[in-house]
Amino acid sequence: MIEIFVNDQSLHVNEGVLLIEALIQNRIDIPYFCYHEALGMDGNCRMCMVGIEGQKRPQIACDTIVKAGMRVHTTGERIEDVRRRILELELVNHPVDCPICDQAGECKLQDFYMDYGLYDSAVSKGEKVHGAKHVDLGANVMLDQERCVLCARCTRFTCNITKTHELGIIGRGDHARISTMPGRKLSNPYAMNVVDLCPVGALTSKDFRFAQRVWFLSSTPSVCHSCAKGCNIFIDHNAPKYQKERIYRFRPRRNDAVNGHFICDAGRLSYKSLNDHRLTCNNPDAMDRAKALIQAAHNIALLVDANLYCEQLDALVAFAQRIGAQLYCPNQCYYDEGFGDEWLRRPWRAANLAHINTLGITQSTPSEAHDLIISFNHPDLSSLTCKHKIAFSTHEGVEADVVLALRSWAEEAGTLINITA
Ligand code: SF4
Ligand code: SF4
Ligand code: FES
Repeated sequence: MIEIFVNDQSLHVNEGVLLIEALIQNRIDIPYFCYHEALGMDGNCRMCMVGIEGQKRPQIACDTIVKAGMRVHTTGERIEDVRRRILELELVNHPVDCPICDQAGECKLQDFYMDYGLYDSAVSKGEKVHGAKHVDLGANVMLDQERCVLCARCTRFTCNITKTHELGIIGRGDHARISTMPGRKLSNPYAMNVVDLCPVGALTSKDFRFAQRVWFLSSTPSVCHSCAKGCNIFIDHNAPKYQKERIYRFRPRRNDAVNGHFICDAGRLSYKSLNDHRLTCNNPDAMDRAKALIQAAHNIALLVDANLYCEQLDALVAFAQRIGAQLYCPNQCYYDEGFGDEWLRRPWRAANLAHINTLGITQSTPSEAHDLIISFNHPDLSSLTCKHKIAFSTHEGVEADVVLALRSWAEEAGTLINITA
């Protein structure tokens, strides 16, 4: 560790780190567009200018390695004037269509303008260079070329992370713009991450566009259930006036031990199944009928879903013992070989198979000797034959003697064990 001074405050930071990393880690305000923890530095936006004692001109913090005793200033009239001028340049051809922009409320350009800009523009809207407004890039992403600040985060993502190379910057000067390569579409299974990476409203999700203003949303930390990887996510939800609570989007939540900053598109869009065709209320006598069926049965199979939380599975193990049932979790319905890849996606498409393994639950289909199957949201119940069935289900459309509503994983809290291999 070495000691540096930022705005006269002493900080102990790792030797060899970038100054911008030291500032971010120590929660010191520093505006930036092009730097990103997952993509590294690019040095193109110049927003991260700081004053360093002993240097004549302001320097960019994303291309400066910390040195012992370094004295840095992130505030002050001179630095703020530099930032204001850079913002003025960024905004020369920007359409400033914040009222209709989906990024409003989480736009870095808006935030920095309010923090450091606040100047009267010398350019009228009519004189601006105009770009294409609604470019369908494919893979659920729309591009507004005019809003782009050319930070190159999206192009670096497709070049360095997915290595699919769909995006590039074409043209020169104030005609430079983001585009897909000729004849190509943005089409990789992680493409929607460019929407999160884009610091402004240039890249938006077709799925989320115009669905909600972000300041109406509440965010709940959670874990994706679409495969066994267990990517960390935020669930953004809201109950609009006179309507039921709905989930509007999943966003990646940083966890360097699991998914870093990213999630796959399939996981991101899997929120939809939690909104639709939900089973929400029970027949008043359903529980009594279920109890009678359990009391009359001689040989019960208890079927559990591999997406249930550890606490729920542990409780069901105890319940199975109490009623003398055998536990099953037929697992073939979760296996999708084509889904797995070398990065995040796993072919096992359930979130808690590791705990099913730990509990030693039988993973084949129950034998036909059972006269009652009780299912806790197992997706394959309909393919099984049995004299009687009781289904605890999150969704409609299940056929059984008794069907009882179950909360979805997004409405419960619990523990999951992911499969990292
Ligand atoms: S589209 Fe967004 S992420 Fe891509 S260069 Fe422009 S501002 Fe940056
Ligand atoms: S890789 Fe798996 S856990 Fe991660 S977002 Fe995709 S489906 Fe969800
Ligand atoms: S963040 Fe440093 S130049 Fe863009």
